[in-house]
Amino acid sequence: MKHLIAPSLLSADFLNLQRDIEMINRSEADWLHLDVMDGVFVPNITIGIPVLQAIGRLCQKKMDVHLMIVEPQKFIPELAACGTYMMNVHYETCPHLHRTVHAIREAGMKAGVALNPHTPVSLLEDILEDIDMVLLMSVNPGYGGQKFIEHSVEKTRKMREMIDRRGLQTLIQVDGGVNLETGRRLLEAGADVLVAGSFVFKSGEPENVIRKLKEL
Ligand code: DX5
Ligand code: ZN
Repeated sequence: MKHLIAPSLLSADFLNLQRDIEMINRSEADWLHLDVMDGVFVPNITIGIPVLQAIGRLCQKKMDVHLMIVEPQKFIPELAACGTYMMNVHYETCPHLHRTVHAIREAGMKAGVALNPHTPVSLLEDILEDIDMVLLMSVNPGYGGQKFIEHSVEKTRKMREMIDRRGLQTLIQVDGGVNLETGRRLLEAGADVLVAGSFVFKSGEPENVIRKLKEL
């Protein structure tokens, strides 16, 4: 499978969200990555359900929602209703992860599980067959524009081995500090989906940068 590109709207111009989403619609991006933060699980607050509903009316790409919030299961119906394709919850916020991922799938969405940089991939051993994607954080969640954590390449490789060994189709997404250089190495290590925020939106030529990431 050719890898997928999911630009993260976090680094877009929030005064011109419509313009930036229309740019994503025209671009070669596969998905639109949307970061929801609560100021509790992570030290920052971003957008919530009303903004996601509005984005859902305009966005023509698959909505990939990354929930950096406690108790994400509370919002399953709202996220399904606004057109979410992939709902990603953090392993660290879900004491009943099995119940949560099944509720996400029953609501008609795909289920992704995100891991913080310090959370080992081995903790997914007993949930891997129940999920559609693993989201490996290659920075500490909370902000765009942070430095790529080098260990993420090795972690991606480990995850790839675990998935292939079991003959699963689970996707591997990597999020944080992705550019052409780190992106290339992550793809070599077995990533399927690259998220890129500041590299796309701070470039001055976002559509071109998306094309370059897609061509990696
Ligand atoms: C960080 C978010 C990322 C963020 C990535 O907590 O999950 O999706 O937008 O931004 P960059 O690509 O700038 O590291
Ligand atoms: Zn994210």
